Amino acid sequence: MVRQGGSSQPRLKTRAQMELMRRAGRLVSEALAMCRRMAVPGCALSELDSAVEALFVSRGAQPLFKGYPGKVPYPGSTCLSVNEQVVHGLPGARMLQEGDLLKVDTACRLDGWCADAAVTLGVGRVSSGKDRLRRVTEEVLQLAIRELASGVKRRGLWSEVAKRMQLHAESAGFQMVTQYVGHGIGETMHEPPQVPNYFDRETLGTDFRLVPGLVLAVEPMVNMGVSQTKVLRDHWTVVTRDGLPSAHVEHTLALTADGVWVITSDRDDDVVK
Ligand code: MF3
Ligand code: CO
Repeated sequence: MVRQGGSSQPRLKTRAQMELMRRAGRLVSEALAMCRRMAVPGCALSELDSAVEALFVSRGAQPLFKGYPGKVPYPGSTCLSVNEQVVHGLPGARMLQEGDLLKVDTACRLDGWCADAAVTLGVGRVSSGKDRLRRVTEEVLQLAIRELASGVKRRGLWSEVAKRMQLHAESAGFQMVTQYVGHGIGETMHEPPQVPNYFDRETLGTDFRLVPGLVLAVEPMVNMGVSQTKVLRDHWTVVTRDGLPSAHVEHTLALTADGVWVITSDRDDDVVK
């Protein structure tokens, strides 16, 4: 979501609520796995979007992106962003091509509880540069999960995790996007707190302590070139200012006393201790 000013208190979740979120998370993970199989050269973005929407609806879940308020309501059930598109790419008639770097982001609500996740996929064979960008971005998210697991034990601060995420991306020669942040999630998709993937004086103002009961959608966006982005005239698609590729991955993560539950994992009971 777009970074905003101001801060407010997160609403902590019970374990029973986290269990419900896991069911939504598993469905989101199934949708992303389906997209991974479908994303071959010649596949239209609209086909991926329709398939995800049909899956959600067939399981009694609500696609959360559809109709999301903006200058124009969001038209799809997924965000499909290709190459220099960072996030919020619109699912239209565009066909995937060999070598594209595709970001698939989607979320649903099932039995009142939400889950949100994203993956970055190479279509066919991608350049080594794009592949490294994808890998480093996945490493940034895995690192965040491990740091959250150790952070919650000592009631650390989110900013300590964010600093490490930024450092990992920058050490690889890449830049973290700062205009967009992760978010709390629960009965609604976007809840406090804001979850930035970087550290500066401004993010300190919205910093928060890592406590059991927090459920966060952590979503690093990493650019090969400059960190700056702009929004296209369709009012949604976010692209890099220099036109170089970008990668984005996201998991919904629940902090508990016995570790971090990866709510949107493709595995049952995925806990990182
Ligand atoms: N995962 C993104 C976010 O949390 C996707 C939002 S798409 C929108 O901001 F359509 F819902 F805006
Ligand atoms: Co999100």
